[in-house]
Amino acid sequence: MNAPTFDPRDPLAGEYRPVPYRPTVPTAEVADQRQRQFLDRMQQRRSIRDFSTEPVPIELVERAILTAGSAPSGAHAQPWTFAVVGDPDVKAAIRAAAEEEERRSYDGRMPDDWLAALHRLGTDEVKSHLTDAPWLVIVFAQAHYLDGDSGYTRKHYYVQESVGIAVGLLLASLQLAGLATLTHTPSPMKFLAEICGRPANERPYVVIPVGRPAPDATVPDIARKSLDEIMVRI
Ligand SMILES: Cc1cc2nc3c(=O)[nH]c(=O)nc-3n(C[C@H](O)[C@H](O)[C@H](O)COP(=O)(O)O)c2cc1C
Repeated sequence: MNAPTFDPRDPLAGEYRPVPYRPTVPTAEVADQRQRQFLDRMQQRRSIRDFSTEPVPIELVERAILTAGSAPSGAHAQPWTFAVVGDPDVKAAIRAAAEEEERRSYDGRMPDDWLAALHRLGTDEVKSHLTDAPWLVIVFAQAHYLDGDSGYTRKHYYVQESVGIAVGLLLASLQLAGLATLTHTPSPMKFLAEICGRPANERPYVVIPVGRPAPDATVPDIARKSLDEIMVRI
């Protein structure tokens, strides 16, 4: 194989430098216990749409974002940015823009089968979670690499897959911290890039309100598929 030519402006380009990998391996008993506890915590995760305004320490959110940043990514491009919003005015602007888009969606833009699927979740165009939750984590996917100084750009690989895995880790970490989240995708959500002032290579991926559930929060009574339904042994 010919050695590739490196562009000095490309942070991903470089020589292969292997280093030893020596993870700590738990005993079978500890591994079993940890995995069961993790499953139990994750099975308790629900999408929460009614948030308390109770404050939550930023450190919990920061640690969850660091955890998200441990995700694998195509060619190790790490094509994600996590914008954290706590400012009430910015949250209000996001809510107003999201509700405007959602109103259009619920009033005709969404096909009937989509509306039917949402009906049992009890969602509508009112998005109070966007102002009630103490933090909004807005995840941006970097469609390509962009060096703001030189204007150098290069494709990013498997961006959607990479950011999806990172968001999964983020949600898991917040759940372990006892926090409530919602995976919210107002559609279209271009307004988020404008409000957050993100560069041209970043696309809004999801908005995640983070906080505590309101004392009177409810969730839809829906079931998760069993192991038999989601696993096949080949
Ligand atoms: C990619 C994605 C987009 C979603 N978008 C929304 C949304 O815009 N609004 C909303 O209320 N819930 C949204 N959800 C939450 C789902 O409705 C929810 O995960 C599903 O009903 C299962 O409920 P659970 O999360 O409580 O297990 C979204 C979830 C995913 C994974």
